[in-house]
Amino acid sequence: EIIDGRGLTALPSFADTHTHFREPGFEYKETLETGSKAAARGGYTSVLLMGNTNPPCSSSKVINKVINKGKEIGLVEILQAGTISDGIKGESLDHLDDVRTATSFITDDGKGVMNDKLMYDAMNYARENGLIVVSHAEDHYFSDTDMRLAENLMTFRDIDLCRITGARLHLAHVSTVEAVERIIAAKEEGLPVTFEVTPHHIFGDSSLVYRVNPPLREQKDIDAIIEAIREGYVDSIGTDHAPHTAEDKKNGSPGISGIETSFPICYTVLVRQNGITLNELSRIMSENPSRILGLNKGLIEEGYEGDIVLVETDTEYEIDSSQFVSKGKNTPFDGRKVFGKVMMTIKHGNIVYKGADYDSRQAL
Ligand code: DOR
Repeated sequence: EIIDGRGLTALPSFADTHTHFREPGFEYKETLETGSKAAARGGYTSVLLMGNTNPPCSSSKVINKVINKGKEIGLVEILQAGTISDGIKGESLDHLDDVRTATSFITDDGKGVMNDKLMYDAMNYARENGLIVVSHAEDHYFSDTDMRLAENLMTFRDIDLCRITGARLHLAHVSTVEAVERIIAAKEEGLPVTFEVTPHHIFGDSSLVYRVNPPLREQKDIDAIIEAIREGYVDSIGTDHAPHTAEDKKNGSPGISGIETSFPICYTVLVRQNGITLNELSRIMSENPSRILGLNKGLIEEGYEGDIVLVETDTEYEIDSSQFVSKGKNTPFDGRKVFGKVMMTIKHGNIVYKGADYDSRQAL
């Protein structure tokens, strides 16, 4: 098949370091199938799923089930993180010997790892066994009173534990100027730390009342994140795609269904408004996250060539959550004007998403 990309821009397809697809346990919010379709519509062909499912991903059985189902669906490459804390059982790490047979990533089970000793032990385990610790750094004893302090303290702790243990640490959805500064210092120090920022934390501030963890922050935080991207410190965009039903949102569930709006938001804010190059955006949406996810090893030999996204960058349009293929329509950005539309996503040479606009564009 010959694909007519005239007027469009071809980029390597995107890889997401932070995604929630809710299976098993919360299929009414999202399934592996609806999530995969949403990812493909967002230009993504690889996602790292978090472990806060029910049951949590604290065994190779649950993890392999997700991975195998993802393969059957076949739209995007699904990686699944295991959990550090073992669900409500909590404080033992015995399950990690089993978990590591199925994944290279460990993270929390939905509630951040508050126990310092447990995190210390987990990081030692991770270093000894070549695992990557993904820290959400959002829950803390201070979470009820001061979410900024909570994120900062957890970030500082995990960087210190990274220094002490030598574990490979990836910090998820970093949102404060203080955390950004401390992570940059850790990188300068040569610690094995990477970090991601989300599209929503650069597109909305706290004047937008919408529940998400970490919360939407202040302009100074947005400025610090964008500056860190400009200086090449930010490793990846992680969508923290967190689909919920309208009912669950009403009852206070935190999160934004964000994988379908990630590229337009990043393109609009970073490239259009802040002069960051498309190459630099591509580096944090494709190249770096692929490396973090371990997808860059022997790409061609393993048949990963042909992972491409075609985007249209000249036409302004409004975000419309009713068009989301994700079950989660929860976004605070409905009606916001953006540039950058994913027109086609190609994985391993196969078209996994084609936008309606692609064909109407052909008819012009
Ligand atoms: O707002 C959030 N919701 N942040 C997270 O990190 C988790 C997520 C969820 O699972 O709903």
